[in-house]
Parts: sequence; structure tokens; C-alpha cells
Amino acid sequence: MKRFMLMVVAAGAAGGGLASLSPEIGRAEVAPASPIFGVRVPDGYRQWELIAPSQSPDEIKGIVGNETALKAYRDSKLPFPDSSILVKLSWKRDLLAGFDGDFVPGRPTMVQVMVKDSKKYPETGGWGFGRFIDGKPADEAQHKSCFACHSRNDQVKQHDFVFTHLAR
Ligand code: HEC
Repeated sequence: MKRFMLMVVAAGAAGGGLASLSPEIGRAEVAPASPIFGVRVPDGYRQWELIAPSQSPDEIKGIVGNETALKAYRDSKLPFPDSSILVKLSWKRDLLAGFDGDFVPGRPTMVQVMVKDSKKYPETGGWGFGRFIDGKPADEAQHKSCFACHSRNDQVKQHDFVFTHLAR
């Protein structure tokens, strides 16, 4: 048993060594990161709980969060603690054929992420931002716009730079 454990540890160490020697191997396994913030699309977010839906004239959206974020919402505890993650999914808003004003999600347009890490992101309210289109991060200019809008009025500032409230 002891020898087996040792072999596992040795294999793990060798694997880590290989990945660091060959950047391609490491990169293929890790999702691409956003410019400025280095935020990635988190694993498993499609299974996360819904905070609220949202819509605009041409889009339908769903905002989900990890357990840390959901607990803060339920306890009405602001600011959100470090490791809170919020993900906004957006789709084109398609009119359901044959119905008068019923809309359904069409093609997905983007996935956006906010990660709380107050030490890493002190200049943007403790939040790191990422916008992904077809799984690829949007450009730097788009990432410069995130915090400016997420801090543009007192209402959102007083809610820790997060627009969405828990839909009960
Ligand atoms: C022009 C204003 C504006 C800009 C720019 C903007 N957002 Fe938002 N964001 C909003 C609004 C409004 C909501 C509320 C949900 C909704 O209706 O879309 C929101 C919601 C979110 C949410 C869900 C949490 C919350 O605050 O409600 C995430 C995650 C998010 N945005 C990420 C981003 C990222 C990443 C960027 C930059 C690439 C960005 N946003 C840029 C206005 C903006």
C-alpha cells in the first residue's frame, strides 16, 4: 500500500514536471483567461443555482452563482466574500413563432464572469471580470468598460458593484 502511494505521488510529480516543461500541454488543459484580470470560465457553472433571469430588448439572460455567492445573497451579507463567483449567460431573444410576445432563448451570445478576490482586484471593488464569446475572451478595451459601468450609480455601488438581486 505504501509503495502504491509512493508510485502515485511520483507519477503526479512527473506529470507536473512534464506540464511545466511543455507549455502546450498545460495550456490545452486550462480555459483561456480574460485580459487585465486573468479570469476564466469556472468549471461546472451550468449546474449552479439561478440568482435571477434578466432581459433587454434583444437578449435573454440568466445570472447564476456559486455556493459562496448564494449564501451571501440568502444571508443578505455584503460585501460578497472572497471566492464568490457570479456568471451571466446571455442569449439572443427569439420570438416564439405563432405566439404573441412569448420569447425563448436563441443563439448564445456570451458568458460573463465576476470573481471576488479583494486582494487581487483592489481597484475594481474586489472583483475580477471576464467576458467570453464562443469560449474566447473578449479584448482588453471591453474589459476596461466592466467596472466603469458596474460602479456607475449609487444603487449598484451600495450593492457591492453587483446589479442582480436574488429573485425570490
Ligand atoms: C454598460 C453597462 C455594463 C457594462 C459595460 C458591463 N456590464 Fe455587466 N451588467 C450590467 C447590468 C445592467 C447587469 C445586470 C444584469 C442584466 O440585466 O444584464 C450586469 C450584470 C453582470 C453580471 C451578473 C452580476 C451582476 O452584476 O448583476 C456579470 C457577471 C457581469 N455583468 C459581467 C460583466 C463583465 C465581465 C463586463 C465587462 C467585459 C461587464 N459586465 C460590463 C451592465 C454592464
